[in-house]
Amino acid sequence: MKMTYKNSNQQTSLDTERDTSHRLLLQKADASIRQALPTVSDTHRLHYHLMPQAHWMNDPNGLVYYRGYYHVFYQHHPYSSDWGPMHWGHARTKDFITWEHLPIALAPSEDYDADGCFSGSAVVEGDLLHLFYTGHRVIDGELIQVQCKATSSDGIHFIKDRRNPLITSFPSDGSPDFRDPKVWRHHGSWYMVLGSGRDGRGNVLLYKSQDLTQWEYVGVLAHSDGTQGTIWECPDLFPLGDRHVLLISPMGVKDRRVMYFVGDMDYDVGKFTPEYVGTLDYGPDFYAVQTFSGTERRLMLAWMDAWECDIPSKKDNWAGALTLPRELVLDESGKLRAQPLPELQKLRQRSISVARSFVVEKDQSMPLTDLQDACLELNLVLALNSSTASHFTLCFCYTESSEQILIRYNKATGELYLDTSKIHVGQPGLYKAALHPPGERLELRIFLDRSSIEVFANQGEATITARIYPRSQTTIPRVFALDGQIKVKSLECWNLAK
Ligand code: FRU
Repeated sequence: MKMTYKNSNQQTSLDTERDTSHRLLLQKADASIRQALPTVSDTHRLHYHLMPQAHWMNDPNGLVYYRGYYHVFYQHHPYSSDWGPMHWGHARTKDFITWEHLPIALAPSEDYDADGCFSGSAVVEGDLLHLFYTGHRVIDGELIQVQCKATSSDGIHFIKDRRNPLITSFPSDGSPDFRDPKVWRHHGSWYMVLGSGRDGRGNVLLYKSQDLTQWEYVGVLAHSDGTQGTIWECPDLFPLGDRHVLLISPMGVKDRRVMYFVGDMDYDVGKFTPEYVGTLDYGPDFYAVQTFSGTERRLMLAWMDAWECDIPSKKDNWAGALTLPRELVLDESGKLRAQPLPELQKLRQRSISVARSFVVEKDQSMPLTDLQDACLELNLVLALNSSTASHFTLCFCYTESSEQILIRYNKATGELYLDTSKIHVGQPGLYKAALHPPGERLELRIFLDRSSIEVFANQGEATITARIYPRSQTTIPRVFALDGQIKVKSLECWNLAK
């Protein structure tokens, strides 16, 4: 907020005071995390996913490649394992295998962001790294969300812009829910999309700027058809192949699954015309997805949890994680596919692989590996045409408890299910993805970590992501053939690095 009544010297000293008070708040927040570290229990800690060192995490923010590192910021409450006034936590990696936690980047320190630095994005301009975020306040029950910027020249320390907030109120097409700026450059201009909604329909609002500071409202880029949510959060728009893709995370729909739209963007009128709508992930724990800025590949991360659900690790003083990094591509039919990054192969340790095909007979179950672990990658290809069973079931059977995770495929309908209902802690449930049309082969690539499972079916045609909280540390994958035999074409399985 500008204090125009001060003369320039006074203004400078006020700015320095503000920077200092922000710095002190960041130090306090980092100290809170350091203090919590010894109290964080290992019980459900993940081995190869990014999670907070302690306390609460939600959305990935400011995903950007800058000076040789992939930077990942995230919504963070450093004072408890529940959501609270949002800070931006920060980590970076060169390879998506080894992560380095960095000092907290943003803390709510100003009038305009006093109740939280909400989600946003990052862009590189010359040597500088700019973060765009939503300043959040609730005053007498009224929501006030404004758009702000903070800048760094070393990728670690950020100074909030003197001219904040850069966008002070929502346009008449929006509502007080007006947040999550995603910024990018196109043909020499900067663009920003914001999530909002009006009259019960979620929408995405487009802004344009020449200098990243002065933003001009362009109009409604896209909106819900009336069934797709009341507020759209965390919008992201980007070119992919010769199309554009819009991602949104909806409020006001039952399952809150992230939606994607494939279509065309007309920059002259500021409109995106969707042609195809799909679900980005069919699991319960995949939300607030964002793609990276500054990379050739379209890489994405999502928050691997969900709002309003039980997170058992809170009692161990941490909550929340991000998904594995995934690459988005469009397939020949124009649908989006999400694949784990090839870099993740470096996680592979001991392996079992059966290259030739084998058959699991009717009413039999076959253990697929002796790699007893809770930290596995499994790649399985089934020959559906030569399998007579109507259903294929893969079970992760936990060894010291009766817990199970089931992955089931219905050959006739092409439906794939993830069933976590036999794990009683957390959010047990049954989740369905439709693979259309049912093909000749089913390829499943599964990543199991201590408290997460990510299923990639048919080269990312559908993915299902869930948090799981089994008591047991080890599991044996088994294939079940019920009313007929199942032909497995190939199988590979690895212990993954811890
Ligand atoms: C999405 C979201 C964002 C908001 C942030 C607050 O999960 O609700 O819209 O900026 O979380 O933490």
